[in-house]
Amino acid sequence: MGFKKLDFEEYSESKMRSRSESFLNEIVTRRTIREFSDRMVPIDIINNCIKTAASAPSGANKQPWQFVVVKDPGIKAEIRKAAEKEEKEFYGHRATKEWLEDLNQFGTDWHKPFLEIAPYLIVVFRKIYDLEDDGTQRKNYYVNESVGIASGFLLAALHHAGLATLTHTPSPMNFLGQILNRPVNEKAFLLIPVGYPANDAEVPDLSKKPFGEISKIV
Ligand SMILES: Cc1cc2nc3c(=O)[nH]c(=O)nc-3n(C[C@H](O)[C@H](O)[C@H](O)COP(=O)(O)O)c2cc1C
Repeated sequence: MGFKKLDFEEYSESKMRSRSESFLNEIVTRRTIREFSDRMVPIDIINNCIKTAASAPSGANKQPWQFVVVKDPGIKAEIRKAAEKEEKEFYGHRATKEWLEDLNQFGTDWHKPFLEIAPYLIVVFRKIYDLEDDGTQRKNYYVNESVGIASGFLLAALHHAGLATLTHTPSPMNFLGQILNRPVNEKAFLLIPVGYPANDAEVPDLSKKPFGEISKIV
């Protein structure tokens, strides 16, 4: 691998300030939604957002991710059934009292109709190692950090495009690898329903921590 000149556009400070403000103003309107419309979204928009995610930095540029876009109603129904089975266990037995109390404000339970209603489910897999065609295993580095950053890019890109998302983590998520026939080196990381919000969609009236609490300059 050789080197090439960096493609870097420098802005004036005032332009940087206004760009940072306008990005902030745009991104703070993102909300996790749990009520979707079944309205279809053109796949090229989804693909652009996945390309954005795939441009993320990753440990040693290993790009240890795989994105599977589920559109097929039969597969979505299968995923819903399996997710609801796990979530019933989670809400009924597995979750601690503290966890259930923390979730109370979101009004969530084991019912996951959005898994069939949203036009797409993007399943993000992390590759715990790479598998070559001859079965040789190659190491990946900082897999969780890398896939977390790529997923952040993905959520931001989808929001920027004008779509709504739910960052969903049915627990445990092994059923996703089975239903989607993924190889053993891929582990489900996030299940992201994507689409338009339902007309009457509501979101919890929550707030983010004040800036002074989450940021320090030393
Ligand atoms: C890693 C992760 C897992 C999450 N899992 C779920 C989930 O399984 N079900 C759900 O309804 N929301 C889930 N959420 C959404 C959070 O509840 C939501 O992001 C949080 O309440 C803040 O709301 P906001 O996204 O609208 O800012 C998850 C979010 C993250 C980042």
